[in-house]
Amino acid sequence: MTLAEFLAKLSALEGEAPGRIAGTSSLDEWTVLRNALVGRQAGEFTAIMNELGSLPKEERREAGARANAVKVALEDALEVRRAQLTAKAAESGPKLDLTMPARDRWQGTVHPVSMVIDEVVEIFRELGFTIALGPEAEHAWYNFGALNFPADHPAMDLHDTLYLGADQVLRTHTSPVQVRTLQQYPPPVRILAPGNVYRRDFFDPSHAPMFAQIEGLVVDEGISFADLKATLSHFARRYFGPHTKTRFRPSYFPFTEPSAEMDVQCGVCDGEGCAVCKHSGWIEILGSGMVHPAVLEAAGLDSEKYTGWAFGMGPARTAISRHAIPDIRILYDSDVRFLEQFGR
Ligand code: PHE
Repeated sequence: MTLAEFLAKLSALEGEAPGRIAGTSSLDEWTVLRNALVGRQAGEFTAIMNELGSLPKEERREAGARANAVKVALEDALEVRRAQLTAKAAESGPKLDLTMPARDRWQGTVHPVSMVIDEVVEIFRELGFTIALGPEAEHAWYNFGALNFPADHPAMDLHDTLYLGADQVLRTHTSPVQVRTLQQYPPPVRILAPGNVYRRDFFDPSHAPMFAQIEGLVVDEGISFADLKATLSHFARRYFGPHTKTRFRPSYFPFTEPSAEMDVQCGVCDGEGCAVCKHSGWIEILGSGMVHPAVLEAAGLDSEKYTGWAFGMGPARTAISRHAIPDIRILYDSDVRFLEQFGR
């Protein structure tokens, strides 16, 4: 190629490009044209520039200067058209109202029930407990049989338990994790098992068909009721404050003997009696007891050698009395106006 031919090609491009650029009617069309003109791969201008090397050395300076001027002109024209097309797109789109107040950035928060679970887990972690989990769809044997429920126990009734099949239930408590853990790991065992459980209850201010529980289990040689009382009282003081009074009341569960429910003195009224503690001065926190020998045996352990204790608590109940929430259903409504109050 001669210098004259090279310059002629540049001039031709310079002459026709403005019309083509002005003819684009959308940003998409504009992008296609820009690539066709100055694209690095297949642009028409790039194709001319690739010929520069074939010119005699002494002509390249003049050719290069001219090419550069054409390139600047092309890019200027492209930029002008891009700005016009952008403005046009904004006009036809939704109008931008600069006087509108800024939108709030909304951040999720930890659910009040999860908060209780996290805190309880943290306190027991300090004591060397680890976490164990079990299935929510559970074999009836783990949920009842292995836990020493007699065959005609009313809890197994269709009115109380959600059955998935003849031998499958939605677990009604987290206690089956006791048996699953003991089958899998030799003592010493110290575990906490948080998880959801199901009961055939309708929603009312104090019941839900699904709710969380936290199970605790300790099994080793020489474990006594004194360990149970000391550990659970320690937990109450760590959770509710160092001066918290606790009270153990006799209770009954098929899988513990003896059994006890633990109350803590109501923190809202200091035991005086108020709406939160239903004027008793005490709030029931958990059920507990010494693991029944039949449960240890069902899990394959020698109940002459090993003893243990267990507890089960409902973190929703704890959240409710702690925040004086009047109705358990609010916890499950997913109403962010309620839930975001507990943010941390
Ligand atoms: N599983 C019992 C319940 O759901 C609670 C519990 C657990 C009681 C462990 C004693 C020991 O009510």
